[in-house]
Amino acid sequence: MLKVGIIGTGAMGTQHFRRMVTLMSNVEVVAVSDVNEANATSLIKSFPGIRFIADAHALIRDPEVQAILIASSSPTHEDYCLTAIEEQKPVFCEKPLSVTSEGAKKVVEAEMKGGKRLIQLGFNRRFDSGFMQLHDILASGKLGDALLAHCSHRAPRVPDWYSTTMAITETLVHEIDIMSWIFNDYFISAQVVMPRKHPDASAILQDPQVILLTTSRGALVMVDVFVNCQYGYDIQCDIVAEKGTARLPDLAKIVVRHDASCGFEIGSDGLKHFEESYNREIQCWIDAAITGEIKSGPSSWDGYKVAVVTDSAVKAQTSGAIEPIAALETPAFYRS
Ligand SMILES: NC(=O)c1ccc[n+]([C@@H]2O[C@H](COP(=O)([O-])OP(=O)(O)OC[C@H]3O[C@@H](n4cnc5c(N)ncnc54)[C@H](O)[C@@H]3O)[C@@H](O)[C@H]2O)c1
Repeated sequence: MLKVGIIGTGAMGTQHFRRMVTLMSNVEVVAVSDVNEANATSLIKSFPGIRFIADAHALIRDPEVQAILIASSSPTHEDYCLTAIEEQKPVFCEKPLSVTSEGAKKVVEAEMKGGKRLIQLGFNRRFDSGFMQLHDILASGKLGDALLAHCSHRAPRVPDWYSTTMAITETLVHEIDIMSWIFNDYFISAQVVMPRKHPDASAILQDPQVILLTTSRGALVMVDVFVNCQYGYDIQCDIVAEKGTARLPDLAKIVVRHDASCGFEIGSDGLKHFEESYNREIQCWIDAAITGEIKSGPSSWDGYKVAVVTDSAVKAQTSGAIEPIAALETPAFYRS
């Protein structure tokens, strides 16, 4: 039984907490921490065995806590990962690994110095059955090499504090990771094109944005990030390869014919949309963390690679130019 401490009991942390206490095997949540004590204590009030520890670093160091799940706000991830590495405890860290590429690199270097992989990063799409099928068909070679992909990442609305930069650092990061995994390639340049702004987008948000990423083998990934799309939470991916195409399946929902129309509900909640993938990624992490070492799943190196692409894409938002992306060679430590 893996004894886990959870840092961050907001939207994502609460969901991970609930799946661990109700669905997952071989795991016990023993402590939670959050700067918002009222929310954290209300979450655990019907679980008398679970402790609230105000200081997250103390939670990481607590002798009863064997592994840590980090779901606090993005700027806190790097620091908590570094403390967990010091303690040599396995970590599930929500994306991003750090809000800067320098910070992500520090985590990678600390993990390598410690001598074993301890971090699984929350790029949950690698556990989504549709994206896994896209990965497998490309890997089979049946379609030849990929030429391009059209992707959409849309949400009905976002809070007022969500900014233009966050469209890259919080949202596009998922496409950066999943498309480089599916294409088995890395990105070498980024460009951002901004169409006319949606009237509901706040003063600090340009929405939608179209991001063009080029891979080292010359394939193109085009993503529209549109977070005021109004109509629902909608993830699309359509790949064109040398000998055929492959498209992300629609949700497994019943098709309803009614009132002179035909269709299915796409929903508006991203956490619900990807629920099965979250369940799979967390069980995968628990199974690995029990052994004391993480050998599969998205690594901190993947988080670092995404942070480097993110830097160029953010620069491209203001420069309007095609920005080069620094090349990285994967260390043997992260090649599995
Ligand atoms: N993988 C995914 O699909 C996905 C989806 C949503 C969010 N996320 C990531 O999960 C993380 C949390 O997102 P969320 O939507 O739950 O946000 P949220 O704002 O709902 O929750 C964040 C929580 O962190 C707490 N917090 C802030 N600073 C802290 C600190 N220093 N120490 C401890 N707790 C602190 C806040 O009080 C809050 O309860 C973010 O990094 C986000 O990028 C990932």
